[in-house]
Amino acid sequence: MNNEIKKVLISEDQIKERNRELGQQITADYQGKDLLAVCILRGSYIFFSDLTREIELPLEVAFMHAASYFAGTESSGKVNLPDQSMLSVAGKDVLLVEDIIDSGRTLAALKETLLKKGVNSLKIATLLDKPERRVVDVDVDYSGFTVPDEFVVGYGLDYNQRYRNLKYIGVLKEEIYQ
Ligand code: IMP
Ligand code: MG
Repeated sequence: MNNEIKKVLISEDQIKERNRELGQQITADYQGKDLLAVCILRGSYIFFSDLTREIELPLEVAFMHAASYFAGTESSGKVNLPDQSMLSVAGKDVLLVEDIIDSGRTLAALKETLLKKGVNSLKIATLLDKPERRVVDVDVDYSGFTVPDEFVVGYGLDYNQRYRNLKYIGVLKEEIYQ
């Protein structure tokens, strides 16, 4: 797997360090609140489990599925949000945890859905942000790293469902993207 990587953009150590900082910030900001951390599947599953363990507060976790890529490196532009009726968010201080914000469509759609459900507050944490690609405006409250406009994989992020289990964020060799 590693020999399919052209370059490492963010190392395992850099991610660990940044997670610690974000966790401390969130811990300070959510004192006395009713925190519900929501993992946006599948891309954020690893970031979510590491980040939540850096938050030193009582919290609840929930999982939501969102998909906008079906194959390849270009978003379809449509966001698919399956039934969210099982998610009880009313009165909670919801923190959406995302792997990467690209066009912003996924988070804009999720925000709209959750705000209708009577949350007490709603914030966004993302490991990566690709601001050059933004189509829809989204306010990001906690951001790990800004990345250039390149398709990245690892630490939860996939290309055609592979490479999620890399410990770092990297870019694949050109011949892999077909
Ligand atoms: P958005 O709706 O365009 O902001 O898309 C965000 C979603 O697209 C993320 O949650 C990722 O799952 C996926 N995505 C965007 N850019 C990348 C990338 O560089 N690598 C892997 N997945 C990506
Ligand atoms: Mg995702």
